[in-house]
Amino acid sequence: MKYTLTTPLYYVNDKPHIGSAYTTIACDAQARYKRLKGHKVIFITGVDEHGQKIQRTAEQKKIEPIEHCNNISQLYLKLWDKWDISNDVFIRTSSQEHINIVNDFFNRVFSSGDIYMGHQKGWYCVGCEEYKDIDEHAIESTCPIHKQKLEWRDEENLFFRLSKYQNEIEQLVNKEDFIYPISRKNEIINFVNSGLKDFSISRVNVKWGIPVKGYKDHTFYVWFDALLGYISSICKLNSNYSLDNLIDNGWPADVHVIGKDILRFHAVYWPAMLMSANLEIPKKVIGHGFLTKDNLKMGKSLGNIIDPDKLVKDYGIDSVRWYLLKDFKFGSDGDFQFRRFVDIVNNDLANTIGNLLNRTTSMSRKWFEGNIPEAINSDTHILQIKVVDTLKVYNSSFSIFDFSRALDSVIELATFANVYLNEQAPWKQIKLNSNKQLVANDIYSILETCRIIAIMINPVVPKLSIKILNQLNFNSTDINLTECCYWGLLQSNAKLPTPEPIMNKLEFIDDN
Ligand code: MSP
Repeated sequence: MKYTLTTPLYYVNDKPHIGSAYTTIACDAQARYKRLKGHKVIFITGVDEHGQKIQRTAEQKKIEPIEHCNNISQLYLKLWDKWDISNDVFIRTSSQEHINIVNDFFNRVFSSGDIYMGHQKGWYCVGCEEYKDIDEHAIESTCPIHKQKLEWRDEENLFFRLSKYQNEIEQLVNKEDFIYPISRKNEIINFVNSGLKDFSISRVNVKWGIPVKGYKDHTFYVWFDALLGYISSICKLNSNYSLDNLIDNGWPADVHVIGKDILRFHAVYWPAMLMSANLEIPKKVIGHGFLTKDNLKMGKSLGNIIDPDKLVKDYGIDSVRWYLLKDFKFGSDGDFQFRRFVDIVNNDLANTIGNLLNRTTSMSRKWFEGNIPEAINSDTHILQIKVVDTLKVYNSSFSIFDFSRALDSVIELATFANVYLNEQAPWKQIKLNSNKQLVANDIYSILETCRIIAIMINPVVPKLSIKILNQLNFNSTDINLTECCYWGLLQSNAKLPTPEPIMNKLEFIDDN
């Protein structure tokens, strides 16, 4: 079964920060999860390279826009590699293939009679690349997101007839599962109910954009161009640059994952553009919250960013991925706190999971000739029951992007197994030879629990997961989340390697 998911295409106005990495990690975890569930995943990410914001940045640096874009795109590619991002496509909107798709798409929309020349005036935020709904008589205004002055614009632009799609879009945004979470859905419903206005899709004052054929001096509005990057990605993947055969090749997307600030573009403008071009619309749009630092949105424009390279160098990639997905409720804003980060990772990974594994493999080696013991148990082991229950919560949470609940359930399972181990105290029981089988059953069951935990955490912390499976002498190639989670797959009498801590405890570094 195909599953296509996308991150936003990131502006290349500056180097990437962990706000952008957050969406990408969430998508990566979902992509890995779906692959482990047997789906054929198309995971799309990339960069959005045109527009005034990027033109100005290049001007400030006194280099050509394309040179600037090349530099920053490389940084994104390097970062995704370091952050274990398993994307299938990386699209650049400056690529010729993408430009061809934009032109073809425009022709379709034009043929539908949805383009006309009009006049646009209003207050514009270059940070958002968007007109703001502010009284035209205001003397001066500031963007609430970027804290930058808005600029007054008054120009001739090509317009897209969004208003024509009022009824279709109303129906779409009211559908049960199109927009998630519900709070965001309500915002969009209110926006749509207030009446959709046509929007401008070209600019005359922006050189760094795709020229609109037949309209001298007009370049495409960066959002019109960028959204189409999702479609050019599908074409790129299939080496087939045509809008005529997207179906069966991975379009429509199953889900667009984006930050809440760009929900309107994805849930309203984009579907209407696709309807006009007679193409399928995406199945779902998820708008997550912002990562904040000291409760302010972390961002390139505000400059309060955490450097992702330094973060990984200081703490390791698995730790960062774990913290971001475990501690933040995906729909809500979350403040990045270094002490909390260190505590959560140490508690969950080093203590709860790490110690469980380490203690149990050591006991197993000591009492069963270095091997995994053989379990002979006529009753279903209590840990097996707990694993089955956990898998239910884990799966239902993961599939709706509730990563924190999914990971909570895993930690609950590991805690339960730790408590069980302490209560059974096999180090006391082993002293009596008649108890050896009982101890064998328990040790085997805890090792099995560790194995299934390793598979469950694989989408979030892939490296750590493999380390655990190696310590259990379980083949980690071709793991999946169905057959591999059946109970009893650990090989009794298989050799256990010398136990090693799966991760060293993090030390808080006080320079952030
Ligand atoms: N280029 C557009 C998207 C076009 S999609 C066809 C854009 N780029 S962006 O680089 O400004 O933002 C990309 C994404 O990063 C957005 O979803 C935005 O919400 C997200 N984030 C930027 N800062 C963020 C945080 N501090 N926290 C979480 N996500 C953040 O918009």
